[in-house]
Amino acid sequence: MKSRILTIAALAVIVFSCATKKEAPKVVVAEPVKVVELTPALAAGQNLYDNNCAKCHKLFKATDFTKEDWKPILVRMQKKAHLDDTQMASISDYISSQL
Ligand code: HEC
Repeated sequence: MKSRILTIAALAVIVFSCATKKEAPKVVVAEPVKVVELTPALAAGQNLYDNNCAKCHKLFKATDFTKEDWKPILVRMQKKAHLDDTQMASISDYISSQL
């Protein structure tokens, strides 16, 4: 008798879980955020990036482009942002650290 009740209970659970599955809300998977501990040098690069690279357009995410894509973009944007080679190397290091 006890096992029959358990069986019924188990079936009820199965039926219930199947029934509710259909109404389950869509699971929104958040984009994974890469948390990288920045060294002071990389933090300086981030600072330069944040302050110089969103004047004409939105601040792009490092992961919006590949390392190969970034190279020519940074060459073009250095001229636009009027940054020297040291500042640009710092920005470039920061972006690489986020990829
Ligand atoms: C004087 C304005 C200006 C500044 C400052 C500037 N950009 Fe841009 N950026 C543009 C324009 C205009 C475009 C779109 C045309 C182009 O790609 O040349 C662009 C496009 C981009 C793109 C997209 C490129 C693509 O191929 O889709 C990236 C990424 C970018 N900029 C990064 C940067 C970074 C990093 C800096 C800082 C070093 C920066 N920008 C500073 C004007 C600027």
